[in-house]
Amino acid sequence: MPQTSNSPSPDLTTVIARNRPRFRTATEFVEAAMREAILGGVLPAGAPLRQEELAAAFGVSRMPVREALRQLEARALVEFHPHRGAVVAAISAADSADIGTIRTALEPTALRLSLPRLTPEDFALAAELLAEMDAEPDPGRMGELNRRFHMTLYARAGRPRLLALVEQHLAAADRYLRFQFVALGYQSRSQDEHYALLAACRAGDVEAACANVVDHVTLAGEQLTAFLDRPD
Ligand code: NI
Repeated sequence: MPQTSNSPSPDLTTVIARNRPRFRTATEFVEAAMREAILGGVLPAGAPLRQEELAAAFGVSRMPVREALRQLEARALVEFHPHRGAVVAAISAADSADIGTIRTALEPTALRLSLPRLTPEDFALAAELLAEMDAEPDPGRMGELNRRFHMTLYARAGRPRLLALVEQHLAAADRYLRFQFVALGYQSRSQDEHYALLAACRAGDVEAACANVVDHVTLAGEQLTAFLDRPD
């Protein structure tokens, strides 16, 4: 259906109408309807979110729209860009599954090569990064710490091209991790898996460590897919 760039899509209008009676405050109403529209794909990844247009579409002032967008940013569903303003963050089950498939192929390969050559200093650094993650209140930092933890374990693989690919896909997984930490309370489970992985590495158990990595990536993907595909 053709749409002009400055009018909300008919689908968004439907979502707005359905949500209007359910909430006490304008901010709650806008946040809930926007969340539904983003997670349901009505507002696709990268879609611009202009405050004045949204205010008009919702029939509210700009203040609750701004507040709702900030709440959605905290849930990793909206991103603010310096010049483009707010846009819908890219959260797609298919993209997440694609990244997960690559990670489960590459990371055990890297770990298998690296693990026999890891030093006590490497294990100490990995443990430090886990402790940092335990204490980190900002989900925005978790992706980076997670990436550094994993890369520390793979770093001695001696395969720079492989490690570049591994790091690239860990970085691609960041926004999904951030979303899971914020929206799904993923942190404690992820950390349990990280500690189990580090213990297997320290024990020199290559098979267990590789199985831990595969499970870690697979379980995260399953949790996200279950959430994004859940019936409302
Ligand atoms: Ni991890």
